[in-house]
Amino acid sequence: MRAVDDEMRVPIDGELDILTARQDARELATALGFDGVSQTLIATAISELARNILKYAGHGEILLRSAARSGARGITVVAADEGPGIADPALAMTDGFSTGHGLGLGLPGTRRLMDDFDLVSKVGSGTVVTTTMWARRP
Ligand SMILES: Nc1ncnc2c1ncn2[C@@H]1O[C@H](COP(=O)(O)OP(=O)(O)O)[C@@H](O)[C@H]1O
Ligand SMILES: [Mg+2]
Repeated sequence: MRAVDDEMRVPIDGELDILTARQDARELATALGFDGVSQTLIATAISELARNILKYAGHGEILLRSAARSGARGITVVAADEGPGIADPALAMTDGFSTGHGLGLGLPGTRRLMDDFDLVSKVGSGTVVTTTMWARRP
């Protein structure tokens, strides 16, 4: 296995990039001591965020980095694009809201899977989702 950097950046331009981001996240999460279930939840969150990038913005990037707070270690996923942005972020966080004939569960589901979640979006400028999962103590 290759060395895991403290921060990884994965450009999202197609389906294969989603797999790369998921795999990189698993490596980083393993290095940080996350169990397999948590790794799967993180990978699921990345799939949703990266798929939104492809579908609504066309391209963007996923940043993966380790986080730390008072002894706890975490993994932070940043999904950023310079796409059309979201007109009503609060509405987009509602279960079932979709402008793309989707299930409308990607953003609210990701918020439930992860511990911390922040969505910043501006119409015409793009969207940045920053979300963190903290490692459970064994
Ligand atoms: N990166 C993004 N850029 C622009 N709009 C987005 C982005 N991500 C999500 N959205 C908007 O938020 C809505 C809800 O997203 P989501 O919960 O993933 O559901 P779905 O993808 O099934 O529509 C989308 O339908 C879209 O309108
Ligand atoms: Mg979605």
